[in-house]
Amino acid sequence: MGKAGLVRMRRADPYAASRFRSLLPAPGSANIQQENPMYGLVNRALQQLVCASKGEQAWIEIRRQAGVDEEVFMRMDPYPDEVTYRLVGAASEVLDTPVPVLLREFGRYWTRYTLIEGYGAMLNDLGPTFHEALAALDSMHERVALLYPSLSPPTFRVTEITPDSLSLNYYSKRSSLGPMVHGLVEGLAERFGIAVDVRHAYAKGDAQDHDRFEIRILGPLAHDS
Ligand code: HEM
Repeated sequence: MGKAGLVRMRRADPYAASRFRSLLPAPGSANIQQENPMYGLVNRALQQLVCASKGEQAWIEIRRQAGVDEEVFMRMDPYPDEVTYRLVGAASEVLDTPVPVLLREFGRYWTRYTLIEGYGAMLNDLGPTFHEALAALDSMHERVALLYPSLSPPTFRVTEITPDSLSLNYYSKRSSLGPMVHGLVEGLAERFGIAVDVRHAYAKGDAQDHDRFEIRILGPLAHDS
């Protein structure tokens, strides 16, 4: 096949940092920018993750490149979604880290950050097993919505359940956050002391109205991981 054919076949990258920064729609999906605001808790967590791992200067540069003036995010204040997307896009460029890698790391971090911020009981009450915890994510976010009334939470559906595997279907008004769920599932599994293999089977886009993750339970976590 000639070079032109290859170029034609290559699909636009739905996770390109430039898309996140400029809020271009993913191919076949609604615009990345939504009317729902995102609570400051999310942007605070991103700031915390960057500052702890890369230092304050890196965050200042990310904010500058994202065109975001806020030095401090109030966790209970809603901010336009685009602030979060622009910060993620700029972080990807400044830290030279692909957006999916960054979002996955952020997802893993979120399960620790929510503990630090005092939401540990909500995570602990999810259920006695990893399977039950995944099935209880919607009711957990309903409880979060009692504290954050404008919350626009995701919804999840657990299917194809066996004792050591299951599929998690992730529905959201937002786009392109699938890799974050990948990390969230890993972070949650860690809290249950188990190692999991997570495959992002497909993303919301042309053909699907949701993302799907196929999860296999590998066994207890090794102590040094
Ligand atoms: C105690 C723990 C948790 C708290 C307090 C919490 C709270 C929140 C908050 C405040 C948002 C922002 C939504 C908005 O402002 O409209 C959010 C978004 C989100 N949460 Fe949770 N969450 C928790 C745990 C989890 C877990 C364990 C998962 C999945 C395994 C999850 C999945 C998500 C996703 C995917 C979003 C992005 C929003 C979207 O897809 O539209 N959360 N959560």
